[in-house]
Amino acid sequence: MRFSSVFTALSAVTSTLAQQTYINPVLWYDLADIDVFRKGNQYYYSASTMSFSPGAPILRSGDLVNWEFIGHSVPTLDFHDTAYDLADGKQAYVRGIWASSMQYREYDDTFYWIGCVDFKTTYIYKAKDPAGDWSKVGEIGTCYYDCGMLFDGQNIYVAYGNTKISVAQLNNDFTQKSTTQVYSSSITIEGSHMKKINNNYYIFVTQPASNEYVLKSSSGPLGPYEFKIFTKAAASSVQGSGNPHQGSVVDTPDGKWYYLAFIDAYPGGRMPVLAPFVFDAQGWPSLKQANGFAIANPYPVTPVPVKSTTGIDSFTGPKLSPQWEWNHNPDTTKYSFASGGGLILKTASATKDLYHAKNTLTHRILGPNSTATIALDISKMSSGDQAGLALLSDNSAYIAIRNGLVILQRDLTLGAGWDTLSTGRQETSASLPANTKTVWLRLHADIAPSGSHQGSFSWSADGKTFKVLGTPYVMNTTYYFFIGYRFGIFNFAESALGGQVTVKSFELALGSK
Ligand SMILES: *[C@@H]1O[C@H](CO)[C@@H](O)[C@H](O)[C@H]1NC(C)=O
Ligand SMILES: *[C@@H]1O[C@H](CO)[C@@H](O)[C@H](O)[C@H]1NC(C)=O
Repeated sequence: MRFSSVFTALSAVTSTLAQQTYINPVLWYDLADIDVFRKGNQYYYSASTMSFSPGAPILRSGDLVNWEFIGHSVPTLDFHDTAYDLADGKQAYVRGIWASSMQYREYDDTFYWIGCVDFKTTYIYKAKDPAGDWSKVGEIGTCYYDCGMLFDGQNIYVAYGNTKISVAQLNNDFTQKSTTQVYSSSITIEGSHMKKINNNYYIFVTQPASNEYVLKSSSGPLGPYEFKIFTKAAASSVQGSGNPHQGSVVDTPDGKWYYLAFIDAYPGGRMPVLAPFVFDAQGWPSLKQANGFAIANPYPVTPVPVKSTTGIDSFTGPKLSPQWEWNHNPDTTKYSFASGGGLILKTASATKDLYHAKNTLTHRILGPNSTATIALDISKMSSGDQAGLALLSDNSAYIAIRNGLVILQRDLTLGAGWDTLSTGRQETSASLPANTKTVWLRLHADIAPSGSHQGSFSWSADGKTFKVLGTPYVMNTTYYFFIGYRFGIFNFAESALGGQVTVKSFELALGSK
């Protein structure tokens, strides 16, 4: 082969790769308050989860576009308050894990997570392997609100605050050494992400929920900082969504820079969108194109496929797959894995209120619309127990089995203080065939912000023929609850504990089924 033909073949491969483009959102899952960084050729992504447990999910990617769940930084919401356990009649909706930060520290080859809980205390967790076990390092009795951590050699800095931005310096044992206000803004800014790039210190901040600014200092981590716009009301490709904002920046091994931000796109929540950006000669970063999120950009690096978001989970154990989160801390004595697969949910609360029932297992809804189907062994349910599949948020509906009927309950609401306002009303019910042992419950949810916002429930006694139950439920699109609608799998008792169900499988499919 002559050199020229080798060259032709190579450039053909290169141009095929260059033609591969990604579309936003890169993953249509509710994963807000993004912190992202690179270690070698792997990218890591952390997000906030409020009162869902475990908290602060970790995703990994080889290309910034294809992401998969690998674990959580906060194994249990161990925040000195039984509200996180749904105990003592208390609940912690809209509390817990807000914007926080996960970074890798080369100095001791360890991953760290830091976040403020309930505007009071900042917690720190660590792990050698981000997909493995995380443990608590300590607590700082100050709130590092919306914080971003920077490891700078041996030094540890944390930028935080709302409008007045501070930088804390931590000791090697993660106690506070000092804290200094480095900037006071005339507009509301928050969501700090601190970076050191070419000996400049940067703190990226958002003006919620539309613009992104950047603070830059060439003097040191404590400033003085100058302030400039990074991107103003950038366009999103998702019809009806808000502007990409409060993002985190990361480079590729070959020196290209990307901004991973999120869009408000209720009822589904806040999803990640990715766009390239550049630095000018003075080291000021800005988004390359104002519509950088709206266009199909080339992949940052060669695409690296990950496990599909869709498919069947048969709960083979010994642990739940990392995309699952409980509504509040679970009672770990009330769930287990059946031999041969299946998640056994024993009733863990005596209540008529789904919002106060322990051990509701949640899964993000895949957008723009998707269908969840569970197969439920109901042969060991007790009288009055309710087990089923919910469309869960502060305004909710669910399909459930109760006393041999399949029921549709709707208009459950949380009110002031995020306490239960209504446990809902039963719209309709249907009889199960005699001696039904396994029931399939299905929920199709359209979370596209410009879509119907409808959730439609159906059920089957044979897993093949599904019957629609009741009328579609229209999801609420306000953002106050922050977390987007989720699929929720539950089993609670009305009076006495003792009954159980086995969730034999959960199937997630894109679109309708
Ligand atoms: C949507 O939820 C909010 C609380 O998050 C509530 O104030 C509002 O009334 C709800 N809207 C509808 C149409 O139910
Ligand atoms: C659901 O999403 C699919 C893409 O996965 C789309 O083709 C379809 O139009 C959507 N359906 C509705 C009802 O929005």
